[in-house]
Amino acid sequence: MSTIAHRVYDDRTPLTLDRSDLPSRPDHETVLLVSPTHFAVRYRINPYMGGRVVPGRALDQWMNVRRAYERYANRVRIVDPDEIWPASDGAVPDVPVSLLPDLVFAANLAVPTADGGGVVLAQMATDERAGEPQHFQRWALDDGYEVESLSTTAAFEGTGDAIWHPGRRLLWGGYGVRTERAAYDELAALLDTPVVTLELSDPHYYHLDVCFAPLTEDTALIVPEAFTAAGRARIDALFDRVIEVPEHEATGGLACNCHCVDDDHVLLASGNPETERRLQAAGFTPVPLDTGEFQKAGGSVCCLSLLLG
Ligand code: ARG
Repeated sequence: MSTIAHRVYDDRTPLTLDRSDLPSRPDHETVLLVSPTHFAVRYRINPYMGGRVVPGRALDQWMNVRRAYERYANRVRIVDPDEIWPASDGAVPDVPVSLLPDLVFAANLAVPTADGGGVVLAQMATDERAGEPQHFQRWALDDGYEVESLSTTAAFEGTGDAIWHPGRRLLWGGYGVRTERAAYDELAALLDTPVVTLELSDPHYYHLDVCFAPLTEDTALIVPEAFTAAGRARIDALFDRVIEVPEHEATGGLACNCHCVDDDHVLLASGNPETERRLQAAGFTPVPLDTGEFQKAGGSVCCLSLLLG
């Protein structure tokens, strides 16, 4: 096992592993959600961003997403952004939560360790979101999680780009738009895991979680147009079954930003009938949820959640 433990696979490193070589990993059973108190669209850092968020509607949609997670996930933790600031030690974060409208997208704040008892904090690629991880760090420490940070300055946007393979000790690493490839060398060591990278270049697929959703240990939902041929080959090598999202539902309805929390129910944005049909044909149960207000910021169900142990 030790020879593959920290390897980072990319286009220059032939994939020499088989899923059965990878140690199994317990599921991350806690879903963390951040209340949408300060959610708004105030800048444009991805091509989807635009329009005016209606706060009441955003809160209703977020409550429905929350209820769906409460129904299908084992544990749900809600973070109220106003309750993590100021901190008990009196230190004042650089940017108040009221000026961080994307903080609701919990996926980007960190990646959990393999057993979920710790996190590696994100280092946002954009100035607009740079202040967010500091708030999450405060909450995570308070709640008893071990918190680590990268020693390099490479951009790293948490589980938006770094996604654990369900049930196995393997991390999928998207890079090229937000997260930088260099982050994965250190993440592989910190998390003691092999990393299979996937290069992204289309700004519509600015995070891996808008074009790649590992539903179960053997099945992934992907947007084929997002990947290079070599990247696609790595996905095909490690999943037995790959379901494709049609491009118009991926970019028009963020259909791939979905979450399968129990190997059966797939929480996804409503308005994506073809993706629902394909999920159903593969034996999954789609749970459509209106995330229209969050799509004005380029996010949907998966972006709103962070898995922890
Ligand atoms: N406006 C946010 C951004 O561009 C949306 C983040 C969505 N999160 C995700 N994991 N895809 O950063």
